[in-house]
This record gives sequence, C-alpha cells and structure tokens, in this order.
Amino acid sequence: MKLHERKVLLLGATGGIGQEVARELYACGARVIEAGRHISREPDVVSVALDLSSDDLAAQLEAISSEHPDIDTVIHCAGQNSFGSIEATRLDEIDRLLSVNLRSAIVLARHFVPRMKKQTHSSLVFVGSTFGHIGFPGFTTYCASKAGLKGFTEALRRELADTSIDIQYIAPRATLTAMNNTAVTEMNKALGTAMDPPEKVARAIIRSMERHQVRTCLGWPERFFVFMNSLLPRLVDQSLRKQLPVIRKFLKQEMSS
Ligand SMILES: NC(=O)c1ccc[n+]([C@@H]2O[C@H](COP(=O)([O-])OP(=O)(O)OC[C@H]3O[C@@H](n4cnc5c(N)ncnc54)[C@H](OP(=O)(O)O)[C@@H]3O)[C@@H](O)[C@H]2O)c1
Repeated sequence: MKLHERKVLLLGATGGIGQEVARELYACGARVIEAGRHISREPDVVSVALDLSSDDLAAQLEAISSEHPDIDTVIHCAGQNSFGSIEATRLDEIDRLLSVNLRSAIVLARHFVPRMKKQTHSSLVFVGSTFGHIGFPGFTTYCASKAGLKGFTEALRRELADTSIDIQYIAPRATLTAMNNTAVTEMNKALGTAMDPPEKVARAIIRSMERHQVRTCLGWPERFFVFMNSLLPRLVDQSLRKQLPVIRKFLKQEMSS
C-alpha cells in the first residue's frame, strides 16, 4: 500500500523524531491523525488525546477507533528516557518508562490487530532503539523497556506471519532531540558517540515503511556493535568497561544537578 493511500495514527507526533515523521507523511499525501497528550491547535491537523501511561489506555484507543474506524497504519514513535544510575532511579520513573515504552505497545497491538485482520493491508510500526540491543550503563530501565519492545515485536511478527499485517520495527541510534538532556549530549560528545538529526531518522522510518522492512537498525558502527553484542557480548562488555569512568563522571554530575 502506497503512503498516500494510508490513514496513519501517529504516536509521538510532538516529539523530535515524530514531528519529522509527520512532515514526511503530510508531504507524501497520507492522512494523519496525531495522537498524544497535547492536542494540536493547528486548523489543518487532526489530533486526538492519548496518554500512553494511563491505566485506561485500552478505553482511549476504543474511542479513537470509533471516531476513525479506517486507520490502517499505526506508528508508535512515542517514548520516554531517563539517565541515571540504578540506585538513583525512582520507582515512579520505572513504572512510567515501562508503561510508555513497552506496555503501551502491547496494548496498542492488542487493540488494532483484530481490526487490522479485517483490512486488506495494514501496518504496525514500532520505534525501538539501539539500546534495546545493547545494554548501556546509565540507561538500565530504558534499555530494559526497549529490549522488551524488540522481543515483543519479533514475537508479534511471527504470530501474524500468515496475515496481511506488516509488523515493522526500527531502532534508531542516538538522535538530537529533547529526549537527550544536556548531560547525555555532552557525554555522547565525550564518548565520540554520533547523534543523528531527527530528519534523517524520520526519512529512514518512512523508507523502511515503503519497503516493508521488518527490522531496521540505524547507523554505523552501531549496527556492527549490535551484531557483535549478540555474538560476543563479552567483547562489548570490555569496550563499555573502558568507557565507564567517563559515563560515571556524567552520572555523578546528573545526580548532583
Ligand atoms: N532521541 C534519541 O536519542 C532516540 C534514540 C533511539 C530511539 N529513540 C526513540 O524514538 C522515539 C521518539 O523519540 P524522540 O527522540 O522523538 O523523543 P522526544 O522528542 O522526547 O519525543 C517523545 C514523544 O513521546 C511522547 N510521549 C511521551 N510520553 C507520552 C505519554 N505518556 N503518552 C503519549 N505520548 C507520550 C511525547 O509527547 P508529549 O510529551 O507531547 O506528550 C513526544 O511526542 C522514542 O520511542 C524513542 O525511545 C530516540
């Protein structure tokens, strides 16, 4: 199905990457419904309220589907992150990250799969992260949520392999958006970690949708590290062990700020 024929529910449309994905979708002529905690006041934008951390997420999705029964594509591009040591992680932060980054994706699929099975073609697109493939110090809860998302989408794709629903998973590497605070951006500079502009990531998401790619990891050498981490995790342990003093310095600064 071509992009201009799609009716897309876009989660995270106010975010750094999401805004660029929305721009690309509008440029292709797709019909877009922007879903999030903040409703757009722009006259040309169709937007609906959706809080992914809410207990009544399933009911909110019901309301959206009643208003827009012809949604054939959903892009989950919402997320939250936090940078800090495990001992500094608050309990409410753990719950929030797991519910927005992981639970919401499962609830979303549970809601849309039966509806999409009745359509000729449909797609569920999930934005993961390199950190779902490589556990990184200072991001333990985020990594856990994104690794969970990776596992969930893989299982879902296999469960729906005999249907016409595309399950797509795209893992960007570090990206220059508000998700990364100054400490993280400075740490990335100190570690020599490249950060992509959100426009580039959005274009990659659109491209992988057009090509029906099931799993895409963005960036080099990140793709290589993902491969190495699955094959020889001890090597990656050793390489991250060398970076640990720099990471600890930024973790300490973060705790005292
Ligand atoms: N930036 C990176 O370095 C990076 C790297 C790899 C993967 N990613 C992934 O890419 C996706 C987009 O990230 P980004 O960089 O664009 O982040 P961002 O600029 O911080 O935007 C996050 C988006 O998620 C939405 N969101 C957060 N909590 C929500 C909730 N409870 N209910 C509904 N919407 C919620 C935000 O909406 P409101 O705040 O307006 O409600 C916003 O639209 C995320 O899945 C992220 O994990 C990002």
